[in-house]
Amino acid sequence: METVVSGIRPTGNLHLGNYFGAMKNFVKMQYKHKCYFFIADFHSLTTHPTPENLMENIKQVLAEYLACGLDPEAATIYLQSDIHEIPELYLLLNMISYLGELERCTSFKEKVRVQPDNVNAGLLTYPVLMATDIIIHKATKVPVGKDQEQHLEMTRNFASRFNRMYNVNYFPEPVAYNFGEELIKIPGLDGSGKMGKSEGPNNAIFLVDEPEVIRKKVMKAVTDAGPTEINQKKPEVIENLFLLMNAVSASETIKHFDDLYNDCTLKYGNLKKQLAEDIIKFTNPFREKIKELKANNAYLKKVAEEGAEKARKSAAKTLKEVREIVGFKEF
Ligand code: TYM
Repeated sequence: METVVSGIRPTGNLHLGNYFGAMKNFVKMQYKHKCYFFIADFHSLTTHPTPENLMENIKQVLAEYLACGLDPEAATIYLQSDIHEIPELYLLLNMISYLGELERCTSFKEKVRVQPDNVNAGLLTYPVLMATDIIIHKATKVPVGKDQEQHLEMTRNFASRFNRMYNVNYFPEPVAYNFGEELIKIPGLDGSGKMGKSEGPNNAIFLVDEPEVIRKKVMKAVTDAGPTEINQKKPEVIENLFLLMNAVSASETIKHFDDLYNDCTLKYGNLKKQLAEDIIKFTNPFREKIKELKANNAYLKKVAEEGAEKARKSAAKTLKEVREIVGFKEF
């Protein structure tokens, strides 16, 4: 049995990228391994949500976790901010992480580009906090999408550096995990390559989107003028639509549209209509459940409290041992 850790930032509703990149694997792993799935609410502060929204967003993601099938009896489900050992281990890890490696991190450079007026130190040390989340439970497997690959590499660096600096074999080196397959990247609908929460209104399909909203978004998806040569290579925006189909449609449906593309008779409108209906079919069961759970504040609170208690136990054990290793021994 492996120890598994992963989390999602509560900066908006879960979208298909979060689902296929992460959540689907959380659900698949929870009965086989020791799993810790949390809501990365400290991480969400790097983009400054307002105090009025923060708790609502957290509850929304928690309701979505449960609606997707996470079972609080099987997995430990908690809020990152409920585990006070996390900021302490984060502080200790900050002492062994270096400015150069943090500045080179792709996600940091991207954030500097998109929020130049808010390049806070939390953004710079984002990978240190993420490494803390993972190694505080001494995890070995981390189910994430492709965009998190570099963060996992940094996590391994911090873990092995700690071991080397203190001459111990304490932290395992965790790996990004997708059942032995390549990590997933679900594209957005606006041609931008990646589905994301902060990419603009027509980029992402959220699990809570109503059917009409899904139809509208998919019909607006970026395409080109259409194929002109038999069996030509698909340009990226078209490949993206097929990648989305791969996630939600039956294989015969995908083959049907692929054949039409290859003999230059495909009408994108028809493909989009089919894609929208398949997405709706896929998200339908989640929508009502999310609403129901969101309305049950007492249950969400209970799940969060029980999860925090379990997570704290594991985190406190690690922190106690780490303090010893670092040299904070009995007086
Ligand atoms: P976040 O909140 O951006 O995304 C949550 C998860 O969803 C995946 N994901 C995608 N996968 C495929 N295609 C997409 N278009 C797509 N968009 C998002 C992400 O890869 C991620 O797995 N840093 C993390 C949160 C975090 C964390 C951790 C994860 C904090 N500490 C410790 C694992 C372990 C993040 O920002 O994810």
